[in-house]
Amino acid sequence: MSDTNIYRVQPSWKREGTIDNETYLKWYADSINDPDAFWGEHGRRIDWFKPYTKVKNTSFEGDVSIKWFEDGELNISYNCIDRHLEKRGDQVAILWEGDNPAEDRKITYKELHEQVCRLANVMKKHGVRKGDRVTIYMPMIPEAAFAMLACSRIGAVHSVVFGGFSPDALGGRIVDCESTFVITADEGLRGGRTIPLKENTEKAIDIAAKNFVMVKNVLVVRRTGGKIGWATGRDFWYDEELASVEPTCEPEKMNAEDPLFILYTSGSTGKPKGVLHTSGGYLVYASMTHQHVFDYHDGDIYWCTADVGWVTGHSYIVYGPLANGATTLMFEGVPNYPDQGRFWNVVDKHKVNIFYTAPTAIRALMGAGDEFVTRSSRSTLKLLGSVGEPINPEAWEWYYNVVGEKRIPIVDTWWQTENGGILITPLPGATDLKPGSATRPFFGVKPQLVDNEGNVLEGVADGNLCITDAWPGMMRTVYGDHKRFIETYFSQYPGRYFSGDGCRRDADGYYWITGRVDDVLNVSGHRMGTAEVESALVAHDKVSEAAVVGYPHDLKGQGIYCYVTLMDGEEPSDELRKELVAHVRKEIGPIASPDKIQFAPGLPKTRSGKIMRRILRKIAEDDFGSLGDTSTLADPGVVDDLIENRQNKH
Ligand code: PRX
Repeated sequence: MSDTNIYRVQPSWKREGTIDNETYLKWYADSINDPDAFWGEHGRRIDWFKPYTKVKNTSFEGDVSIKWFEDGELNISYNCIDRHLEKRGDQVAILWEGDNPAEDRKITYKELHEQVCRLANVMKKHGVRKGDRVTIYMPMIPEAAFAMLACSRIGAVHSVVFGGFSPDALGGRIVDCESTFVITADEGLRGGRTIPLKENTEKAIDIAAKNFVMVKNVLVVRRTGGKIGWATGRDFWYDEELASVEPTCEPEKMNAEDPLFILYTSGSTGKPKGVLHTSGGYLVYASMTHQHVFDYHDGDIYWCTADVGWVTGHSYIVYGPLANGATTLMFEGVPNYPDQGRFWNVVDKHKVNIFYTAPTAIRALMGAGDEFVTRSSRSTLKLLGSVGEPINPEAWEWYYNVVGEKRIPIVDTWWQTENGGILITPLPGATDLKPGSATRPFFGVKPQLVDNEGNVLEGVADGNLCITDAWPGMMRTVYGDHKRFIETYFSQYPGRYFSGDGCRRDADGYYWITGRVDDVLNVSGHRMGTAEVESALVAHDKVSEAAVVGYPHDLKGQGIYCYVTLMDGEEPSDELRKELVAHVRKEIGPIASPDKIQFAPGLPKTRSGKIMRRILRKIAEDDFGSLGDTSTLADPGVVDDLIENRQNKH
């Protein structure tokens, strides 16, 4: 990676109130030198029913305990809706663009208030109480945001499950947090195709029941009107229920550290973890990053293309923007439907000012040719953003030159589900840009690079990325398993939060994320554990063993490469390959579709039986010239067969 290309901050990138470099440096120093004073002041950007007197009470040592604003009381939905009503009741809060370009909806803050209150009342009517977990399995329609906000209004804890996940994945998540209330839709709609959400929900409920978690109610939004099954007494139509209750609902007073949501994410082990975020610190951090990273100004039309099923959708479609009184665009569709110009048509149609998407989408659109972009105007755009995976400099340059016409800054934002909000990022009026670098830490964030032994690396260095002190938006625990929280994030390098990412720091102190250093894949910005895909594969009755690694993929960033050993007597075939791909899609969801399957009579193992993934990665990358030392293998002979039958021969 070269850092010769530097894009200096342009005067035109600054508006009134945009943070400049001097301010960045001062605020950053203040935030590090005196976090109590800094966050004590910025915590007041949101409204508190009962103001906090304590600010930071956190420890990364021992039992790891993270508390922010701990004696304050607030309500998230009040902050995202009610407090804006007087000034911007008639302003559009959620601007919805359907999968079908002919469909859109505008929901004002006033309307949002009524919808959220009604839904909150419906949940109360069905017995949902403060602290109860509610699972949301929805398409990208405004009702998904209503559902999240309604939970926060009554203090229920939501667990949003991405609509692309399978019934098995949904069922597992319902079981883990013992959620008995599910909000879904009849079907989802993406790229002209329907997704059987209600049918999947029914299958998931059966799985949950087998694990002794009984879902009591399902609230179903009518999206497509498609034919669905129905369990009378358990299932209710969303619209009918909402019509039957009062249009106002008092917001519950919540403690700053009361849970707001659980979001499942993948790690090195087979089972996704329920990342738990709480209320006060999360909202302060989400709203503050939303304002300064995107340089959000009053009246801007802001669009984040993520799905609400991911943390980006939580923090930067729903909570951050709405806490700031923004107009947030929510898009049901996909970048290439009806054609590859869709994003830019939507930008023109809704006069979008701020646009935030993922490198995988940028690469795909880059491949489709410039005409899809240049036929649109994009003149309203003031800022572009990127998130989810490292952006390669070529894609960055294309985004800058073609989409932004060399006119507007790009913020490459690094963060994770666990972080709640953006941690490393440029600020458009303050930070000179280097394509491929997430640049500098946000206020209050203290990055540290360490080697594999945990030695701190100073200056120009390449290492493992840790954060040494707490920030308000970070996760508090793994739901139901605090021990796993400590083990996963604080044990490898004690006293520090370990991100799982590799990272380089250059001579200007800029950070360059190089990707995961653990057994986590990032496929099209979707995070998944190799162990998850492996356990899906071995669940197939013809598979005896499987090992999964990532390999560089032009569009997806990483592709999924599976080595599969079959049961005795089973023969490899293309047919079986297809069967296994379908099987993984069924077990996890289409995002986990294997790209390559190699049938392997044996896997490279040490004498103690540990699979040597390093070798498998090299072979998947077609880089077997430098396999390193294979003499510790129990059977060095397996390597020749693996090389001979590799699937990525160039
Ligand atoms: O490897 C990093 C990559 O995505 C991981 C986090 O994934 P997830 O929890 O799903 O959250 C994605 C969106 C917040 C990180 O460990 N990642 C995310 N953003 C970037 C990135 N890698 C490089 N550059 C980024 N801007």
